[in-house]
Amino acid sequence: MRKAMAEAEVGDDVYGEDPTVGRLERLAAEMTGMEASLLVASGTMGNLASLLAHCERGREVILGDESHIFHYENGSASALGGLVLHTVPTRPDGTLPLEAVEAAIRLPAHHYHYYHYAPTGVICLENTHNRCGGRVVSPEYFAEVAAIARRHGVAVHVDGARLFNAALAAGRPVTDWTRHADSVQLCLSKGLAAPVGSLICGSAEFVDRARRMRKMLGGGMRQAGVIAAPGIVALTEMVSRLAEDHANAKILANGLSRIPGIVLDPAEVETNIVVFRLPSAEAASAYAAALEREGVLVSDFGAGRLRVVTHYGIDEAACRRAVEICAHVAAAQL
Ligand SMILES: Cc1ncc(COP(=O)(O)O)c(C=O)c1O
Repeated sequence: MRKAMAEAEVGDDVYGEDPTVGRLERLAAEMTGMEASLLVASGTMGNLASLLAHCERGREVILGDESHIFHYENGSASALGGLVLHTVPTRPDGTLPLEAVEAAIRLPAHHYHYYHYAPTGVICLENTHNRCGGRVVSPEYFAEVAAIARRHGVAVHVDGARLFNAALAAGRPVTDWTRHADSVQLCLSKGLAAPVGSLICGSAEFVDRARRMRKMLGGGMRQAGVIAAPGIVALTEMVSRLAEDHANAKILANGLSRIPGIVLDPAEVETNIVVFRLPSAEAASAYAAALEREGVLVSDFGAGRLRVVTHYGIDEAACRRAVEICAHVAAAQL
């Protein structure tokens, strides 16, 4: 990737003149079966630019209460976009109850109180689902949500930060999911190992609006070919490698599940994220701190839940060693 960056042919992408960015955006559009795509600086910017492109101020965004957009994006859709985040419960498998999604939709045809409500603009899905432990949400579920959205004239945005992990785990093409979406955000970083960047894909009209939003957010980038070049490597060479991360996550899950005090069902680990439970929030944060001192980094999801993630550069031996350290720290602490 560093070599690709050094050798990238560049131009000014704010004027649409960077040939490497153009190549990456065409590749992403082709892979997702969508009309167009746009390179953005991060997953967070991609989700925000997408929501802003779908909705004018004062609209509602329906999303899961465990979603990344709700938890980890600084409320940016509200703070910067004037959008209202309307959460519905997230089930442990990363899906949202269909009845809850449909009941959350508020449009003129449905509500006597329409003039009191912020009307729905978009429904967001996440795949794989981060806080649900990297669970794969099926294309069939996407189809059901899309049917509800179409019925009510509402858009569907997919936070597909790890959609390629989902596709690989399910053995299906990403188009099985993207064909049910009006927009999708894909991260080039994370498992695909690029240093920076995400792509948002959708219709040409959507991408045109998103491009304006990206510029408003300060995300118009000049010689962005140096970022796009590793992105092309990510999409062409790193997607099938995700299988290693999934196998390594299984090693972690199997090992962790055998440690007394840790609650985890390895059968639920489908991709590169392992979420496990400890008896209390206090025990989990103390355990995370002790692991960090031993060189194992975990994220604290609160309420006694901890997350470990596998990625490029973390091999099988490292995962086996991490399990040993987790067992040793647990024996002293749990
Ligand atoms: C599901 C999901 N969406 C979006 C993001 C945001 O990506 P970024 O960190 O590039 O802003 C993340 C990052 O962890 C994520 O897990």
